[in-house]
Amino acid sequence: MQVSPFESCGAIVSDLQLATMTDADLTELRTAFSQHGVLFFRDQTLPPKEHLRFARRFGKIVVNKFFKTTTLDPEIAEVRKEKTQQTNIGGGWHTDHSYDDNPALGSILVARTLPETGGNTHFSDLAAAYDALPEPLKKRIAGLRAVHSNTHLYGENGLYRLTDLADQLGGMDRVGDATHPVVIRHPESGRKVLYVNPGHTIQFEDWDFDRSRSLLDELYAHVNQSQFTSNFNWLPGSVTFWDNRRTWHMADNDYQGQMRLMHRITLAGTGLAAA
Ligand code: SIN
Repeated sequence: MQVSPFESCGAIVSDLQLATMTDADLTELRTAFSQHGVLFFRDQTLPPKEHLRFARRFGKIVVNKFFKTTTLDPEIAEVRKEKTQQTNIGGGWHTDHSYDDNPALGSILVARTLPETGGNTHFSDLAAAYDALPEPLKKRIAGLRAVHSNTHLYGENGLYRLTDLADQLGGMDRVGDATHPVVIRHPESGRKVLYVNPGHTIQFEDWDFDRSRSLLDELYAHVNQSQFTSNFNWLPGSVTFWDNRRTWHMADNDYQGQMRLMHRITLAGTGLAAA
């Protein structure tokens, strides 16, 4: 197995087939995952059964509360955009399931049908972004907690419900919030990570909305810089595996009139401790 880091965020893993890897490969892959936060793979043969098997070798699967799953297996979520749809899933920076008390460990996304061009996915490294924060900003956020929610997206009149993705959604009765430290200690690497994201973080605990907004916007502008972000172009056989405790991701919606279908399996995580 060869692991080649991207300059900014993540690493590409070559000379490895996920479907047939050995236990020794798995151990090496866990180390690479902990070091880089996002792993990219090309030329994989990973049909749904092998996708599930790979995920289970890594951890326990958690099912997304809102997106429909495939007819193949309830543990595989569809990230689907039909030719006729305008809105895509995950088109803004976010972290999967940060609204849960035990946020997802990671997500494994497999390309099934791709547009001819476009539909790239961007990733950002929140451990590197934390390290690079100016000291006064680190002091301002030390000890803070933030509220993460899904109600504004999936609740009644939530943003996604008002789009042409509405038919792909369920779970309106399962909306809810969770609070997490703003700076977490990563459970495996031990690194400090800035744990807020534009998709789900609503405000800081015990702060009012406007004051929260202004500090969140400052943090988001810092993270959204090229030295922390990478851009992955999908090809048939591509797979990405990202750490939801350490990264943001966002899918481009620049392929109107074409279909894109991805299969996503999300791995269960644990509660997050303050750094
Ligand atoms: C997601 O947000 O999980 C989907 C990302 C993508 O479709 O590239």
